[in-house]
Amino acid sequence: MNLSVQLAPKHQRGLLLANPVMPASGTFGYGTEYKHLFDIQKLGAIVCKGTTLQPREGNSQPRLAETASGLINSIGLQNIGVKALIEDKAPLWARWRVPVIVNIAGETINEYAQVAGELDRVAGISAIEVNVSCPNIQAGGAEFGKDPEPAAKVTAVVKAATSLPILVKLTPNTGNITEVAIAVAEAGADAIILINTLKGMTIDIAKRQPLLGSISGGLSGPAIKPVALYMVYEVAGAVEIPIIGCGGITTATDAIEFIMAGASAIQVGTASFANPRAPLDILQGIERFMEKEGILNLNDLIGAARN
Ligand SMILES: Cc1cc2nc3c(=O)[nH]c(=O)nc-3n(C[C@H](O)[C@H](O)[C@H](O)COP(=O)(O)O)c2cc1C
Repeated sequence: MNLSVQLAPKHQRGLLLANPVMPASGTFGYGTEYKHLFDIQKLGAIVCKGTTLQPREGNSQPRLAETASGLINSIGLQNIGVKALIEDKAPLWARWRVPVIVNIAGETINEYAQVAGELDRVAGISAIEVNVSCPNIQAGGAEFGKDPEPAAKVTAVVKAATSLPILVKLTPNTGNITEVAIAVAEAGADAIILINTLKGMTIDIAKRQPLLGSISGGLSGPAIKPVALYMVYEVAGAVEIPIIGCGGITTATDAIEFIMAGASAIQVGTASFANPRAPLDILQGIERFMEKEGILNLNDLIGAARN
């Protein structure tokens, strides 16, 4: 069976994965944390925690709250910063055969460009994932990814700053995700990831105050799966570049739904907190499904529900 997928077909280097399953940024650390639990090199790729120019301590506690079929987090991009990532993590990744994708974030357009520039030509890094769900501090704090123009601008500056393939991860917190996707594709994204978390909150009724230290957070987990699936279905009909589905994927059935909706690959996030082997279990479940259905090539499943 052939499960390999090319996620950057228009890019000179390309981004060829042995299979379509990878962890979602922020739920799998730097990959090193999980390597004692299972053979992470069996995954299609590893995606690391969101990385910024300077190290960040993140938001005030509490930063996690469980909800019905979901999780709300307000980690606030706690990370070691791009320099420590290059010095401490990349040398290790350079010895792995599984490609590593570095997720980046910024508070200004220039910060995205700088982080992307630092990562260019670093051994052990195969692609950049651009998180556009960050507040743009020069534009009153609206998420870059909320509107087509700032999302395209971030894409274009990152593209100009690196020779690596770039995957742009969109936010569902917009009224027009298809327009944002089209703008980002036109600005040079090699692939699109759908979706990041949905804005939400929860209240501690005993204290009569918001439970999270930063009031609101991002909802993830099974609760958001139908929303993410529909966004993948919609966007897959509007852009030509590969789509990576993400949002509530917990089982192989979930993953296959995203692939049939038009995703070329998928990411597993919150599910790893309950079952750290979830990405591998999902990969094995996809293989079993293909075997049972007599499908020899994953490409035959991509978009199968779109006809
Ligand atoms: C604790 C936590 C931290 C996250 N950190 C990041 C991050 O640093 N960068 C990013 O782009 N997405 C981040 N995400 C979003 C996930 O990558 C993913 O898009 C989202 O959780 C939906 O997928 P899921 O329902 O499978 O978790 C984070 C999610 C969680 C739960």
